[in-house]
Amino acid sequence: MSTELQATVDALVQKGKGILAADESGPTIAKRFKAIGVESTEENRRAWRSLILSAPGLGQFISGIILYEETLSQRSGEGEALPQLAARQGIVPGIKVDAGKIPLALAPGDEITQGLDGLAQRLDGYKQHGARFAKWRAVYNVSDVLPSRAAIEANAEALARYAAICQAQGVVPIVEPEVLIDGDHTLARCAEVTQAVLHEVFHALHRHRVALEHMLLKPSMVVPGKTHAQQAAPAEVAAETLRVLRRTVPAAVPGINFLSGGQSPAEATANLDAMNRLGPHPWSLSFSYGRALQDTAMQAWQGQLANVRQAQDALQKRARLNAAASIGKYDASMESSTE
Ligand code: 13P
Repeated sequence: MSTELQATVDALVQKGKGILAADESGPTIAKRFKAIGVESTEENRRAWRSLILSAPGLGQFISGIILYEETLSQRSGEGEALPQLAARQGIVPGIKVDAGKIPLALAPGDEITQGLDGLAQRLDGYKQHGARFAKWRAVYNVSDVLPSRAAIEANAEALARYAAICQAQGVVPIVEPEVLIDGDHTLARCAEVTQAVLHEVFHALHRHRVALEHMLLKPSMVVPGKTHAQQAAPAEVAAETLRVLRRTVPAAVPGINFLSGGQSPAEATANLDAMNRLGPHPWSLSFSYGRALQDTAMQAWQGQLANVRQAQDALQKRARLNAAASIGKYDASMESSTE
């Protein structure tokens, strides 16, 4: 089992590569499609995800892709199963396994992620479709009083139980505690919450005997709330994020792959680059972006077959720039060049 887990970790954590999150749930992909005037039908979702996976040479910058359950059994225009197409590109297919968030009872403003019941059996089926790693996202709303202690503990427990079940099934867990960017809180408040959240997550992982060597962490960066008057430059985001990570994430964790969480594509790239310029670090620091990789490509696509090539070029560009950022070799001037 541990050889299988190690092989997957090695395939995911490769220098100069990161993970692409293409696992939007039904309501989320509908929201993304609505922004470009495309209806969320099964065929449109298949077309979009097929476009992503068939982007020429994507495997040069992307080591793994997180898929949504529906995608596992969809096929490309040429009739190839999409997880197989990923594998042929040298990209490890993974699967979002949580069942989304609901309000945490008796804790106004807090949320809890569900989906543990029957997870071992579901993982069995996902594995048969080619999935080798999984993702579970916990979210934390931030205010002066949120998240509550109860929310921090309940989400940590769920993340750890999920991770233990995955490892027992030979699937590498991506543990994703997302401190939300929404709100007008300060950078310092985000740092305080992120530190408390990560401490609790690693306590719970230890309690549940999760092998830190065989998991990846997918955290949010330490940034001010989206509507806070004073936004932070990459150097400050990098310094504060690293301070929190060093205090909370054991060196045994092989990789930390950030979510983009509502940052613009260029911000997410610049912030990752700034962190890697401060290396070396005990862990690989890379990306597992959804919007920051897909947004410009989706804008180019507009649901039109004629735009597929342009959309793939846009995706390639963000993948390439983030791959550069994952080794501290990104420069803002690369944004305007086509090479
Ligand atoms: P974003 O990068 O758009 O935040 O998506 C990453 C993700 O997988 C959220 O669960």
